[in-house]
Amino acid sequence: MSTKPSRVYVPLEKEPYEVVIGGGGLSLIGDELIKAGFKKGSKILVVSNPDVGTPYGDICLESLTKSGFSPTLLLIKAGEDQKNNSTIELIHNAAFTAKLERSSLMIALGGGVVGDMTGFAAATWLRGIPIVQVPTTLLSMVDAAIGGKTGVNHPGGKNLIGAFHQPKLVLIDPNTLTTLPQREFRAGMAEVIKYAVIGDLPLFEFLSNLTELSNPSKIEPDVLNKILERSAATKAKIVARDERESGLRATLNYGHTFGHVVETLCGYGNYLHGEAVAIGMAAVGELAVEICNWSREDSERQRNLILKAGLSTKWPKLNIEDVFKTLQADKKVKGGKIRFIIPRAIGKVEIRNDIKREEIESSLKKLT
Ligand code: GLY
Repeated sequence: MSTKPSRVYVPLEKEPYEVVIGGGGLSLIGDELIKAGFKKGSKILVVSNPDVGTPYGDICLESLTKSGFSPTLLLIKAGEDQKNNSTIELIHNAAFTAKLERSSLMIALGGGVVGDMTGFAAATWLRGIPIVQVPTTLLSMVDAAIGGKTGVNHPGGKNLIGAFHQPKLVLIDPNTLTTLPQREFRAGMAEVIKYAVIGDLPLFEFLSNLTELSNPSKIEPDVLNKILERSAATKAKIVARDERESGLRATLNYGHTFGHVVETLCGYGNYLHGEAVAIGMAAVGELAVEICNWSREDSERQRNLILKAGLSTKWPKLNIEDVFKTLQADKKVKGGKIRFIIPRAIGKVEIRNDIKREEIESSLKKLT
């Protein structure tokens, strides 16, 4: 690898795995699979989309073939609207044609949509074959690829169909970010800021001291590696303590409750997921200042960091009844109670489901 790889261990009780981070790592994926315990000769279905498969598919296949594997590449159409059961059927058909066996594996080479779907196809083919995640967007590098959440959308909502299926290895090659549109890079940075606020004060300070956070070509490779490594480490720690989201893992949804409202009411596609999360973090920051005594100073530090990443913090003009209808319809609502992840300090959050409608309404009014 052109930059020294770092390795983050995901210490799951049953099947721990590594997140390997290093520039140029894609060309060494074959060696990494051998290190992770896969046998030469194994059949591999690599799933990607044309945006990623065109620049990176050959690099991946060459490395796999060189290491003695037998890979096939399947390109599926790009886009959130492809995240459905018809695409899963396409992946399963390719698995059938390639004669994948229980000892075979699938590799997801792409962003969150490719990762979630390939993970789900692997979870369900032959009742479960191994999956290796090779995320190529900042968002999927720091979030979706780690932790084993896989699935597809249902006409009734996002990610309603799915399974927990942990990867055997996550390989992050930051060089793949060079072809990522800058807007998507910035949106991914929202999730990095999320990790800093929920559990990593030193990362928050590191990010705050950087002069450049929005343009990947101006961020030094070792700085980017550190950002990826720290984010992966926070996610690994949380997932290891609460793999199935019975408590702590919910903190990964910081900024997502209000973010989901923005995504839903403004139309998916108008705001990228990370852009909506950035607004959601600023909004819940205001709520935390109003009713939970979060310091105004910390809330402003968070806002400044979001702005430095080239993201907006501006709450859009929304009808308040629609906001509450959307909050109630969120799949994470339990017994009619809306759950918020509330910051108490930079690096420390708590889960609250007792916040009153008047309090939410009053803080949202302050934002508009
Ligand atoms: N993206 C949130 C989680 O993995 O739990």
